[in-house]
Amino acid sequence: MSKYVERFNTRERVLHWFVTVTFFTQLLSGLGLFSRLFVGYLDLFGGGQGAIMVHKYAGILFLASSLLLFLNHRKEISTLDDDDRVWLSKLGGYLSRDTYEENNGKFNAGQKLFGIFMGASTVILGITGFVIWFPVLLPRSLVQVSLLVHGLIFVLFIMFVIVHIYLATIGNPGTLDGMLWGRVSRIWARKHHVKWYKEITGQEKAS
Ligand code: HEM
Repeated sequence: MSKYVERFNTRERVLHWFVTVTFFTQLLSGLGLFSRLFVGYLDLFGGGQGAIMVHKYAGILFLASSLLLFLNHRKEISTLDDDDRVWLSKLGGYLSRDTYEENNGKFNAGQKLFGIFMGASTVILGITGFVIWFPVLLPRSLVQVSLLVHGLIFVLFIMFVIVHIYLATIGNPGTLDGMLWGRVSRIWARKHHVKWYKEITGQEKAS
C-alpha cells in the first residue's frame, strides 16, 4: 500500500500557484501606490505609470483566478459542522499547550474561513479596483470611499496570507507537499484531517 494519498489534482495546484503569482504581482505593484513609504517599489516597474499598468492588468488575472479558486473549493468550505465549531472554540489548539484531537474534514474551520474571506475580499477588491480605474466617469465621493476600502481590504488580505503561508509551511510540516506534488503522507492526512482521511480511504489507521 502506498504511503501517500492524493490531496490536490494538477488543475487545482496550477490554479493555486497562478493565484499566488498574481497576488504577489499585485502586492509589489500596489505597494508604491498605497503609501509613500514604499515608493521605491515603483522602480521595479519602471516608475508609477508602469506600476499602475501592471496593477490594472495583473489585477484582472488575480480577480479571475482567485474567484475560480474560491468556486473550486466552495463545496468544501461553505458549511461549518459541529467539529468545525469545536475547532474554532479551541482556535485549532494553536494557542494552548493541551493536546487536542482534531476531527477535520478536507479543510479545518480556519481554512474554510480563510477561503470565504478570500472569495469575498476578491470581489470587493475587484469592484473598488474598477471604480478607481475610471475616476473621472464616477462620483468623486465613490472613488474616495473605494480607495479607502481597497486599501483596508488589502491590509487585511496580506495579514491573512502571511498567516496562511506560515501555517501551510513551517507551522505544519508536510502540508506543502500536497500543493507541490499533489499528494500527502497518510500519517499527515490522519493527523490533520482524520474525517477526510477515513472518507477517502475507508480506513481508521494510517498504515
Ligand atoms: C508562497 C505562498 C503560498 C503558499 C506556500 C501556500 C501554500 C498552500 C498550501 C500548502 C495549501 C494546501 C493546504 C492543505 O492541504 O490543507 C494551500 C491552500 C490554499 N491556499 Fe495557499 N499558499 C500560498 C499563497 C496563497 C495565496 C496568495 C492565496 C490567496 C490569495 C492562497 C489561497 C489558498 C486557498 C484558498 C487554499 C485552500 C484552502 C486553505 O487551505 O485555506 N494561497 N496553500
